[in-house]
Amino acid sequence: MASAAEQATLEAQRVRMRATTREETLRGSSGGRLLPQPSCACSLEAQRVRMRAGKEERNTLALSAARLIPRPSCACSLDAPRAVRSIPRPSYASALEQPAAAFAPAEQIAPADYQRFADLIYQTCGIHMNASKRLMVETRLRKRLRATGLKTFREYWKRLHDPTDQGVELVLFIDAMTTNKTEFFREPVHFVYLTKKLLPAIGQRAKQAARPVRVWSAGCSTGKEAYTLAMVLSECRERGEVGDFEILGTDISTEVLGKARRAVYEPEEIEPIPEALRKKYLLRRRGDGGGRFRIAPELRARVRFERLNFMDNGFRLEALFDIIFCRNVIIYFDRETQAKVVNKLVESLDPQGYFFTGHSETLSGFATQLVSVAPTIYRKGKKT
Ligand SMILES: C[S@@+](CC[C@H](N)C(=O)[O-])C[C@H]1O[C@@H](n2cnc3c(N)ncnc32)[C@H](O)[C@@H]1O
Repeated sequence: MASAAEQATLEAQRVRMRATTREETLRGSSGGRLLPQPSCACSLEAQRVRMRAGKEERNTLALSAARLIPRPSCACSLDAPRAVRSIPRPSYASALEQPAAAFAPAEQIAPADYQRFADLIYQTCGIHMNASKRLMVETRLRKRLRATGLKTFREYWKRLHDPTDQGVELVLFIDAMTTNKTEFFREPVHFVYLTKKLLPAIGQRAKQAARPVRVWSAGCSTGKEAYTLAMVLSECRERGEVGDFEILGTDISTEVLGKARRAVYEPEEIEPIPEALRKKYLLRRRGDGGGRFRIAPELRARVRFERLNFMDNGFRLEALFDIIFCRNVIIYFDRETQAKVVNKLVESLDPQGYFFTGHSETLSGFATQLVSVAPTIYRKGKKT
């Protein structure tokens, strides 16, 4: 004589044979064979029986009662044959019951592999990726996997170290790992301070020395900071406060530098630019539906872009700068790297020059040659 569970299994097999293909699929990996599920609410009744017989602790039952819900994949659902024959589409509630792994992408990066990539990012760009950045790094790596046609993170790691690749993929890897968020007139108080407090004196000094005012947008991303500076200086020039000026934009990412050099922006990107300056310094592009804008040639002629990695100890710029903007860049570095980078940049600052950081960055606690003159604005000099 077959036991109740065996009978249930047999009945389930018969039901399966009658079921449609879709129903079979919904039954999942068990191949449609219904077995009693210990996680199903039906086992609660069995527990109650055992408890009444003194075989189970009351608190065990209470715990189970909180956890157990009816499972359509359980043999007990044969008690309601009609429900079995029309298996419901997976609901939100039933999907929630799936193990998290069922939703995970095919391959997740192993912790040790993640650490190798994080170390490489740190060594090459100084960017500190801790464990909380794992998902972000993984998403960025996946893009490179798709672009290279490679299947696994390990294959990609090999590609990065393949001598025949001559470092090409490493450059693209760095491009993918950097965060390039930027805006025209980002943190606008900096440009107000520059216009009202600094540029007239800086312009005067440069004119007397018969040289241009020199500005460096260090970590310039797609050039919006450099072109904002160009607009601000151009306005000062019109008022006669500044004579000649030149702006250097540098970044580690070749991708953003390409966009900076093209100087073409979408309508939504130019929104932060005041209307009057848009009219003066932007040209509507012909040939691409008229939707995009390009920085006017007279402004572009004053801005130059170069690739520069702050981790290259040997970098030296040909002249000293009156103003350095290094905003929202060192925030990605650890404290030690921040101090090194800032000190290195300050070497390229004129003795009477000014240094700007992002509003969420602080230089307090660093031994630098900088003195704070306003929040996130510093001048070169000794602290008194
Ligand atoms: C968030 S963006 C900031 C852009 C702009 N300064 C602003 O505030 O809008 C940071 C830029 O720093 C660049 N960067 C990161 N690490 C760098 C490094 N080691 N050397 C040079 N540039 C780096 C990134 O490529 C990125 O474009």
